[in-house]
Amino acid sequence: MKDVLISQDQIREKVQELGESITADYQGKSPLLVGILRGAVVVLSDLMRTVDLPCDIDFMDISSYGTGTTSSGVVRILKDLEEDITGRHVLIVEDIIDSGLTLSYLRRALLSRDPASLEIVSMLSKPSRRKVELPVKYLGFEIPDEFVVGYGLDYAGAYRNLPDICIVDPDNDPATPETARG
Ligand code: IMP
Ligand code: MG
Repeated sequence: MKDVLISQDQIREKVQELGESITADYQGKSPLLVGILRGAVVVLSDLMRTVDLPCDIDFMDISSYGTGTTSSGVVRILKDLEEDITGRHVLIVEDIIDSGLTLSYLRRALLSRDPASLEIVSMLSKPSRRKVELPVKYLGFEIPDEFVVGYGLDYAGAYRNLPDICIVDPDNDPATPETARG
């Protein structure tokens, strides 16, 4: 079994709080929740049900990581939004912010489309790893510099379905490719 860092009960409580804040802050508006594939699918699906407002969802897929545990610094849009966000109140929903490079790039790209507002929601943040400053309006938990999985987060394509957020030890994990094991 993996070491649990944040339990499903803690997650549920936090998502509820985030949803209540968003509901209070966006009264009279219909925000568009934009999930970043694939990790944010789980938090997006929980979060949207705690937001008591008319809202819609959309998705983007962005690549800044290979299958390893460190940022490549390369950011590409693999799948763009279906919606025109001009004049919309947009909330980017992310699973985790590490260096911040991915979201910093994405934020600038979306701001250039003239949304009415643009804010970031992230379940997790590793502040010690940040390489660029990023305004995160709605944050679940700050965590130490550990590689975590579960609740949508993967390690080499594994563990997204774990209900808790758990710590991975890449040196002793069956999902680590033989060639990369140190
Ligand atoms: P950033 O551009 O360095 O902030 O990278 C953010 C992305 O890296 C997230 O959307 C995740 O896909 C991935 N990532 C960063 N840290 C972790 C982790 O601890 N576990 C799983 N994925 C992570
Ligand atoms: Mg991601």
